[in-house]
Amino acid sequence: MSCQNRRVAFLTEMGLGPVWSQRGAAALLQPDDDPPVNHLAAIAVVAEPDIAEPNLSAWSHAESAKIAAPVPTLSKPATLVTDVMRMDWDQLKSAVSTCTLCDLCKSRTQTVFGAGYQKARWLFVGEGPGRNEDFQGEPFVGPAGKLLDNMFVAMGMKRGENTYIANVVKCRPTDANKRDRAPAAEEVNACMPYLERQIALINPTVIVALGKTAALSLLKLDPATPVSKLRGTVHRYAGLPLIVTYHPAYLLRSPAEKSKAWADLCLAMQTYAGSAVV
Ligand code: URA
Repeated sequence: MSCQNRRVAFLTEMGLGPVWSQRGAAALLQPDDDPPVNHLAAIAVVAEPDIAEPNLSAWSHAESAKIAAPVPTLSKPATLVTDVMRMDWDQLKSAVSTCTLCDLCKSRTQTVFGAGYQKARWLFVGEGPGRNEDFQGEPFVGPAGKLLDNMFVAMGMKRGENTYIANVVKCRPTDANKRDRAPAAEEVNACMPYLERQIALINPTVIVALGKTAALSLLKLDPATPVSKLRGTVHRYAGLPLIVTYHPAYLLRSPAEKSKAWADLCLAMQTYAGSAVV
């Protein structure tokens, strides 16, 4: 299927597809149109982490100079990082499930390791578990996960089949009111070796970073970098192609951006086609 045809499929899967009017005429919404009321839009997003996309108006030339600046890394015991980088899947899962490297361990119901095919060619990286994921122990099982599943369908893929889903942090970050929040820098730092090992074990053909936390953590960029500045480029993580797109939770809040996410997924599919070893 061409990217153009898949675009139609994607917009349909995303709740932006052909809509029957009362007079019976079908109309395909243009990318920037508001979506119709549909089952996706009707899903409450209160349980999802509040992953705010940066304010574009705050972007200035001075800030763009910061893009290349590495995020300061907190020191971790070198032996721990070395140990993690030698672990196999079982050892890694076990280490994550008992991890106490940051305070998120105190409030978690359980860790959310990641899920999918361990030799997947496609790796999708999110931010961290929300309430649903903390409860079920699986990544992306809430409303944003349903949207992610629809994105897979539009790409001709299915969760778990040639895909792996991981998060930057493996425990649910919450605020003082027990609401989901983005992970703090020290929480990301503590957890990154686990994600790095997952990536090394999977060795995917393409990595798709879902949202700001995933993109900036993997690319080690300044925390002020907006996702919008990272889209449309094939980045590299340890030599592997990495595409940045919006987080599904953000897309649920800003459905007009779904067409941009589709453009990102098309870039990812083109990159995959150009990199896949048969
Ligand atoms: N958001 C994420 O980033 N990851 C999940 O697993 C669920 C919601």
